[in-house]
Amino acid sequence: MQIQENISLKPFNTFGIGAKARYFSAFSNVGDLAELLAHGPRLTTPDSRLPTLVLGGGSNMLFTKDFNGVILKNEMKGIEKISEDENSVYIKVGAGENWHQFVLYCIENNYAGIENLSLIPGCVGATPMQNIGAYGVEIKEVFHELTAFHLEEKSNYTFRLKDCQFGYRDSVFKHKYKNQFVIINVTYRLNKQPVFHTSYGAIEQELERMGIKELSIRAISNAVINIRSSKLPDPKEVGNAGSFFKNPSVEKDKYEQLKSEFPAIAGYENADGTLKLAAGWLIEQCGWKGYRQGDAGVHPKQALVLVNYNNASGYEVYELSERILQTVNEKFGVLLEREVNII
Ligand code: FAD
Ligand code: EPU
Repeated sequence: MQIQENISLKPFNTFGIGAKARYFSAFSNVGDLAELLAHGPRLTTPDSRLPTLVLGGGSNMLFTKDFNGVILKNEMKGIEKISEDENSVYIKVGAGENWHQFVLYCIENNYAGIENLSLIPGCVGATPMQNIGAYGVEIKEVFHELTAFHLEEKSNYTFRLKDCQFGYRDSVFKHKYKNQFVIINVTYRLNKQPVFHTSYGAIEQELERMGIKELSIRAISNAVINIRSSKLPDPKEVGNAGSFFKNPSVEKDKYEQLKSEFPAIAGYENADGTLKLAAGWLIEQCGWKGYRQGDAGVHPKQALVLVNYNNASGYEVYELSERILQTVNEKFGVLLEREVNII
């Protein structure tokens, strides 16, 4: 187990931000993790309480400054079928497995339920962190349980569905248990018989364009991949972390007031009667789409995605997000919330 010092994080975050980490170490099993915490720099340097940060694929992070602590890169692997019943198969997956590769594994084996979540970057261990979602499906719908290692107590805990308090891009790990656990594996409950979700966004249109006669989870996955590739920038080409902000929800009264002032605004009703607005539309209406200052910018095809064209600092991207947040608030009276984890 190697501990590196003062290394650039540029290859480890999809924004491509070149902040530095004071210490950096990868672990591929719980023994290594425990050893790292017991004998690593956290306890052997004079500043013994350096903060720790768990890193998966780095696709939902913005480093605004150097990280004066210990980065723990999760590389725990393994995909194991643990049980099955008439309708479902239960697959336990190491937190360091690549998410999209796992989606492809499920499609290959005809395990249904996550095909709409194709091509989301990052690792399995981060999927419960913000209850990843896309094209009408969220991870909570196939989540069975997870095992997490408590950083202080150095012991494993099992979290079932109700323990995770999943919400829209939200879970208990972003609040009550923030920075307390390392997720080491996640067990998903996949369906033997598919239930197709094609009504969201342009999926049906894309399936038709592809000439699909018989619906399958593979066809849906391919349609989602095509749609995503057409509008989201590939982090290998342009640094980004997907949607920078969450889509905000407003009360019905507020929505009606906005609708009378901005007739083109669209709202999607939530179960609690509030309405979800498209943050990308709000940002575009403020004139930000395609904006660029230095190497920080707003993607020309998707205003919700902030980009690093090459050498922007994390702070420059953060400042841009602050200006966007202010102008949206001034124009619409709606306060956006960042989805990306700001470090
Ligand atoms: P990281 O960025 O490494 O970490 C994210 C957070 O989780 C951090 O707080 C980190 O400390 C914590 N964390 C990571 N692993 C662990 C662990 N094992 N234990 C404890 N804490 C951990 N997200 C969506 O929901 N839907 C989308 O459609 C979507 N599209 C995207 C498109 C693009 C082009 C990009 C770049 C990002 C997109 N994202 C999307 C955001 C991102 O891919 C997801 O949030 C993903 O789950 C992050 O995984 P990661 O491994 O990269 O996490
Ligand atoms: N829109 C604009 N201008 C823009 C961008 C979007 O007017 O510049 C409008 C679109 O025309 C559409 C609406 O906003 O009417 C929604 O746009 P889109 O379908 O592209 O989805 P989104 O709301 O921007 C969300 C998620 C994505 C997820 C897609 C598909 C959030 C914050 N984002 O984006 O997740 O992939 O839906 O389900 O919920 C992520 O979380 O990182 C992410 C990429």
